[in-house]
Amino acid sequence: MCGIVGYIGKDKCIPKIIKGLESLEYRGYDSAGIAYKLNNDIEIVKEEGKIVNLKELINKDLDSYMGIGHTRWATHGMPCTVNSHPHKVGKITLVHNGIIENYEKLKKYLKEYKWQSETDSEVVAALIDKLYQEDNDMLKVLAKLKDYLKGSYALGVLVDGLDMIYAIRKDSPLIIGISEDGNYIASDVPAILEYTKMYYLLLNDEYAVLSKNDVTIYDKDGKISTKSLEVFEGSIDAAMKNGYDHYMLKEIEEQPKAVMETINEYINSYEALEEKLKGLEKYEAIDIVGCGSAYHVGLVGKYLITKYGKVEVRTDIASEYRYTEHIYRKKHLIILISQSGETADTLAVLRKAKEMGTQTLAIVNVVGSSIAREADKVLYIKAGPEIAVATTKAYLCQMMILSLIALYLGIKNKSLSKDVLKEYKELDKLISDELENKEKLEKIAQLIYQKKDIFYLGRKLDYALCLEASLKLKEVSYLHSEAYAAGELKHGTISLIEDKTPVISIVTDDDIRTKTLSNIKEVKARKALSIIISNREIDDKSLYDELILIPKVHELISGALVMVNCQLIAYYVAKLNGCDIDKPRNLAKSVTVE
Ligand code: AGP
Repeated sequence: MCGIVGYIGKDKCIPKIIKGLESLEYRGYDSAGIAYKLNNDIEIVKEEGKIVNLKELINKDLDSYMGIGHTRWATHGMPCTVNSHPHKVGKITLVHNGIIENYEKLKKYLKEYKWQSETDSEVVAALIDKLYQEDNDMLKVLAKLKDYLKGSYALGVLVDGLDMIYAIRKDSPLIIGISEDGNYIASDVPAILEYTKMYYLLLNDEYAVLSKNDVTIYDKDGKISTKSLEVFEGSIDAAMKNGYDHYMLKEIEEQPKAVMETINEYINSYEALEEKLKGLEKYEAIDIVGCGSAYHVGLVGKYLITKYGKVEVRTDIASEYRYTEHIYRKKHLIILISQSGETADTLAVLRKAKEMGTQTLAIVNVVGSSIAREADKVLYIKAGPEIAVATTKAYLCQMMILSLIALYLGIKNKSLSKDVLKEYKELDKLISDELENKEKLEKIAQLIYQKKDIFYLGRKLDYALCLEASLKLKEVSYLHSEAYAAGELKHGTISLIEDKTPVISIVTDDDIRTKTLSNIKEVKARKALSIIISNREIDDKSLYDELILIPKVHELISGALVMVNCQLIAYYVAKLNGCDIDKPRNLAKSVTVE
């Protein structure tokens, strides 16, 4: 997500805005920019890359007392100077954090404007400029913005000739900082803590007008708000995590929003889905390649796309795939999955595929990353910056893109009805409901955190989920864990099952349920501590010590609900073990070397 900072007051604004942007760097970004009023003009300096590049371009001592700044995490359009914020259109200069879903449609209403960038944000600036020209009253413009914009936005706006900062938000955070020296807008508290701990929290559809001496806040009905001032208590570090103890937990909690922002453009209608995925039906075979969690989510994709898409799918870890011989079909697609878009082995597979002339599709989080740029086609997830080394929200977003590919192909081959699209509409609520399991999952973590071996068991899709659940546990808690195909246990590994050895079984596939339950009986007979994650009650209560029940939903989305529980188990075990959860030992967020 992007970062916004603005200031208007009696001090020089540029040092304050730069300081504020630097405090937001932890959120991840690819470019930065500042707009400031100098004499009677609004000057803009913006640059791809780090804030340090910006600092070299700006004289911090300029006599400017009003400005807005931005750090960009690209969602629409490559990271480059022209796509960076602030955007100036007509009399309006604007910074934006969020995703406008109907920006292409808005362009038709704004056809008199010529677009400089590929961004949705520039379209918002043009819309405000057009409305301001009609009304010549920013309060009227702000009051009706919600009627035009679909999606999420936090906006900081300057208007030529007016010594005011205007701010409005919907679904993206924005606060209004208050101090004797002047007033601030910011995406979150760390950006203003150097200058003040007092702020107003804007709620959805509320907007604010800041002058150097005053702040007026309007509620969603346009009435002056009498909301109380917040006073931040705590450290900057706590503020950066929005009060969470770790980024990993913050990012697990962000999953409902991240998943919906990722899939919204696909699920509005079958036509929207087809618009995004048309052409995939022509392939006879698909290889899905990635590393670590990206490989694990590829296995989920393999299962769903084979079953519903009726397409042959192979999966492999990139470090093996790149050195192995493969037989390709005439119409073959290689899907590369990568959160960072920079993983060396995955990038190597992409480049080898390009040399061979095999079509490539990337599913990536970081806009403009190497894998995104070099693939023939890219489907971006909209997870936002993922700070914790252990991926959670990116994995879930990748899973949903693969699920939608399976759905699209299933509709094309008539094995699925278009009605299945509605299963995705409430996915944020379904994921949020799983986040309510914390207390039970913390209790389960208490049962297992001191064990030396922890096994995950499952079959088919459930086995693919076990692999990711086990990796999550290993990488953040440093406990040894193995994921096993449930039917495979008796071929050797069952010798490791001792009294109270934790075995966590994932049982959501009805077709194979009885087989998995009989495997659980085998481990229970050896006194394992049995924990079951299932979408149906387990009649034989002797099979488990703890049962996590998830709702019975379509197989295309059930993996997401299972995984939220497994992520939280891993998180709470790691917390009990006092591990460095966000930066586990020996691990990097992106493995850019072989
Ligand atoms: C995720 O929890 C792991 N840290 C790791 O397996 C990761 O998924 C893998 O390194 C691939 O990274 P990428 O998605 O950025 O390519």
